[in-house]
Amino acid sequence: MDAPVRFRQQGLIPDSFKQDLLNRVDIVDLVERYVRLKKAGANFVACCPFHNEKSPSFTVSPTKQFYHCFGCGAHGNAISFVMEYQGLGYVDAVKELAESAGMQLPEFERRGPKTEPEGPDLYEIMQRAAHYYREQLKSAPAAIDYLKARGLTGQVAARFGIDYAPVGWQNLQSVFPDYAAKALKDCGLVIDGEGGRRYDRFRDRIMFPILNQRGSVIGFGGRVLGEGEPKYLNSPETPLFEKGRELYGLPQARTAIREAGRAVVVEGYMDVVALAQHGVECAVATLGTATSATHVQKLFRQTDEIVFCFDGDAAGRRAAWHALDISLPVLADHKAAKFLFLPAEDDPDSYVRSHGREAFEKLLAEARPLSEFFMSELRSQVDMATLEGRSRLIHEAKPLLKRVGAPALQLQLLKEVAQASGVTQEEAARLTEIRGVAPARHTHPAPAKGPDRAMLVRKLDRELLACLLAHPPLVREVPAEIVDVSHAEGRALEALMALDGIEKLTHAVILERLRGSEHESVLERIGGDFLEKGMDADIAQAVFNGAITAIRTREPNPRIKELGEKEAKQGLTASEYDEFGRLIAEGAALKQRRTPPSTVL
Ligand code: CTP
Ligand code: MN
Repeated sequence: MDAPVRFRQQGLIPDSFKQDLLNRVDIVDLVERYVRLKKAGANFVACCPFHNEKSPSFTVSPTKQFYHCFGCGAHGNAISFVMEYQGLGYVDAVKELAESAGMQLPEFERRGPKTEPEGPDLYEIMQRAAHYYREQLKSAPAAIDYLKARGLTGQVAARFGIDYAPVGWQNLQSVFPDYAAKALKDCGLVIDGEGGRRYDRFRDRIMFPILNQRGSVIGFGGRVLGEGEPKYLNSPETPLFEKGRELYGLPQARTAIREAGRAVVVEGYMDVVALAQHGVECAVATLGTATSATHVQKLFRQTDEIVFCFDGDAAGRRAAWHALDISLPVLADHKAAKFLFLPAEDDPDSYVRSHGREAFEKLLAEARPLSEFFMSELRSQVDMATLEGRSRLIHEAKPLLKRVGAPALQLQLLKEVAQASGVTQEEAARLTEIRGVAPARHTHPAPAKGPDRAMLVRKLDRELLACLLAHPPLVREVPAEIVDVSHAEGRALEALMALDGIEKLTHAVILERLRGSEHESVLERIGGDFLEKGMDADIAQAVFNGAITAIRTREPNPRIKELGEKEAKQGLTASEYDEFGRLIAEGAALKQRRTPPSTVL
């Protein structure tokens, strides 16, 4: 239920204003101010301003008022473009856009009598706390000495906003007169001890502010000066801060990542800061958590190469293997993940400090490709000298290979596995059930099983979503009983249906309404699908009808399938129609419903 707080900043601006704004500005005009566009059929194309590329895969649709990059997946409406291109926060981007369109942003109704009482702005609280900690650093010689001793200049400390939380239990009281406010707890800045005594979470620590992509403070990491436990204390998960999604140092590294053509992922705050101190500015850190698929996705949107840089010890290898594992489904054939292992005694901070930038960059250039790390780890797990061991290699590789999202890479890895285990590629393909590789003549294709059905369900839902995006009035024609919310596409469908009733519902408005929700990434992917198909309203309606029929016939109950097929071909009798409806309704009732979509909007 954190959505209202999380998206409050957006909520401040009335939806009607955003809609007017999106109807007023022309995205082609807007993008053209920064990027030279070329006409290509109904759309415009350019080299993507959000990642490095030589041939244009960035597409702008004048009719649908959105952009989509087939290379990096960047996708959005005019507001998104201003945010991403100018690195502005949401409100500022709306302001900027409104000004350029000659529209006056309405005064925010902060606590108007008619509006619901707004929660306090957690972003603002974090900002105020950060400001306070910054002031404190100036008068804390011990903290300054500590940073100097770790080789940091004031410039780099400022670049990362490194601050200091002073000694004392209730210092924040001087910044927040209402020290008992719930919002301070919600931000993770204070802890309620036993007996209700409240105190500051961070005391006598060097503070590393954690920023989101828009540059707002969403959390802190605090390090003890010298020895002490815990060495690092982090903000807890809060409505603003989800550890598994955020990367420390990303806003600061963004330009360097683009220029270097790669992002380096390290483990620690100090690794990021020390690397920047020595001129390697493209590093980011996971926040005391394992690398997540979201982390990898986020970085692959900005660059084609990620180098995971881990310590050379056993823990580092485990962390690296985990990073490999979660990267597999996210990989594409034009995206590369690499692995760099430092000498066991070093972390990136100590390495770059004792060996310098050039030595570190040499290691980066020699980082091991994912395929190599993949094979060497697998080999090391089995006894390659025995045929049992080589069989086990196939067995271990199978679940991993199946998850590789990049078809060419999957095939290459399959070949490697086959070769290493002494079987033919066809045999390996059959044993690992990798599809897309022609099976040997005498084998039969495996019968469709659970996962394939799930794939089909999602494929049809994607098709439906594409139709709705191409022609939004269709949202009111989706029959409720076909919505299956057990997967992301189904939930996105449900969310779109909840937008029924909005006047002049357009693609750009849909993106706006779902901004920040879990559906954003689903829609991003689908935006590409329907651009490619060049759907107009008529095509959308036809594809829509076909998808609905196909969905109705996908039910596992053979009778439903039979009736569905008959309906599509020759129509049903009245009693058959009743039966059809009843069976479908029963099926839908069995499906677990999740939270109603209104809570995510
Ligand atoms: N970490 C944490 N909590 C701890 C220890 C570590 O959250 N108690 C996270 C921090 O994000 C830290 C990272 O794990 O930056 C790496 O930890 P570690 O290797 O122990 O620290 P260093 O980064 O080497 O820190 P320093 O160089 O300051 O000693
Ligand atoms: Mn360290």
